[in-house]
Amino acid sequence: MKISIVGAGYVGLVTGGCLADLGHQVICIDSDANKVATLNSAGLPIYEPGLQELMARNRAEGRIHFTTDMAEAVDHGEVIFIAVGTPSKEDGSADLQHVLSVASQIGRHLKSFKVIVNKSTVPVGTAYRVQTCLQAELQKRGIQDSLFEVISNPEFLKEGAAIKDFMHPDRIVIGLDESTNYKTVHQKMELLYSSFNRHHARTIWMDVRSAELTKYAANAMLATRISFMNEIANLSDLLGADIDSIRRGIGADQRIGHDFLYAGTGYGGSCFPKDTRALIQTALDCGSQMKVVTAVENVNDHQKSLLVARVIQHFGEDLSGLQFAVWGLAFKPNTDDMREAPSRIIIQELLKRGATVHAFDPLAGKEGYEALSSDLKHFEELSRLHMAESAYEAASGADALLVVTEWKTFHHPDFETLKESMNHALILDGRNLYDPQMLQDLGIAYQGIGRRNQLALNFKVGNRHKNQESASAS
Ligand SMILES: NC(=O)c1ccc[n+]([C@@H]2O[C@H](COP(=O)([O-])OP(=O)(O)OC[C@H]3O[C@@H](n4cnc5c(N)ncnc54)[C@H](O)[C@@H]3O)[C@@H](O)[C@H]2O)c1
Repeated sequence: MKISIVGAGYVGLVTGGCLADLGHQVICIDSDANKVATLNSAGLPIYEPGLQELMARNRAEGRIHFTTDMAEAVDHGEVIFIAVGTPSKEDGSADLQHVLSVASQIGRHLKSFKVIVNKSTVPVGTAYRVQTCLQAELQKRGIQDSLFEVISNPEFLKEGAAIKDFMHPDRIVIGLDESTNYKTVHQKMELLYSSFNRHHARTIWMDVRSAELTKYAANAMLATRISFMNEIANLSDLLGADIDSIRRGIGADQRIGHDFLYAGTGYGGSCFPKDTRALIQTALDCGSQMKVVTAVENVNDHQKSLLVARVIQHFGEDLSGLQFAVWGLAFKPNTDDMREAPSRIIIQELLKRGATVHAFDPLAGKEGYEALSSDLKHFEELSRLHMAESAYEAASGADALLVVTEWKTFHHPDFETLKESMNHALILDGRNLYDPQMLQDLGIAYQGIGRRNQLALNFKVGNRHKNQESASAS
């Protein structure tokens, strides 16, 4: 089939690459000319595991093209996906300016019947608004024919595993309302996704409004599990219980399952924070309240600052003259995405209190520095942020190491080397990567999130500067 995809970001590029890999003829269009130039010169504007190879294969076979020309894209695709960003507005609601502007642009070039598929995460009623924009453009051109059908097909891929998720979906949700075009559109979408339904039917058909809400409900449910586990972990800390044992204990219940039960420094990324906020605002717009989701968001805001609270617990409010290592900047491993990453809050808070930060991320160093440069208002604060070339370089001379993203390369560091090179052997583990007992045996002070660990509870830095301690002893 001929497919056009508007928006060559994380979702658009993965969707385009995967559909091309299934043999479809794909055009990806983006308004960002630099992105399109990068894509046309065999580069990629984002990192996603396997995407480079996928794109190279399909570029070479001539199944995928990139353009900034909307007329070309509208002409090409019998199915046109909208996959542009829907960031939060100030009040938390989803900003639909990109989606609606794309709808108008498509309307300006529409000449024959097209299925317009909304893949962006959008509030209930957006398909209707897209339809209105398209209709308005056709009317301006004096066209009365019904040249389109707008349907909803929310995307559930996860960054870091996006290609696998797209190629092996748990389900494909399609929202399609009754209309004169129903049969034609149903057939086209069946054909488009038929490769995924060969073993068993994965497509779940529903009305458009339910499909739009399904996406928000899924993300809010996942965010709820994370905040719930973080609350239990914080309580475990107070009670001397161990969240990892509790996680295994409850995950074994098949009604609960093992996924998404990890306590940590809170969720970030381009989806959970903005989608929970948008859902809360949608309810308010209806005169209602999402009480659970509001609590989920509050717990997450608190959790993002937890490692800083622990630093303050150990060193006091004034962190000037102290140096902290931060391992991990991206909001999760295997991505370079810094949107709403907990590291941004943590590093800003440390710098504001006068600390020096040496940060390392295996992939998102450049993106992390750019994100923090835009967050920080004072150049002096930014001047105390150093990007290290390696995890060990970041830790060298540090008064504490903060583990923020669970990259695989952080799983098994050489603790002896770390202990020797750090000013204070203190690890504040925001992802519960390490065994508290093992670190205690090695003489490293350790505090995870909700881990049973008496050494960490008893640990106090008597004199903030180890070097001064040894100087005064001599
Ligand atoms: N990133 C994820 O993991 C993920 C997962 C599921 C759903 N989603 C949803 O998918 C949508 C896209 O997310 P993303 O992460 O891919 O966003 P993104 O910011 O990575 O990409 C969006 C792209 O759209 C382009 N764009 C904006 N306006 C345009 C226009 N008028 N014409 C052409 N291109 C335009 C931008 O230049 C950008 O390249 C969002 O609604 C998001 O909530 C994202």
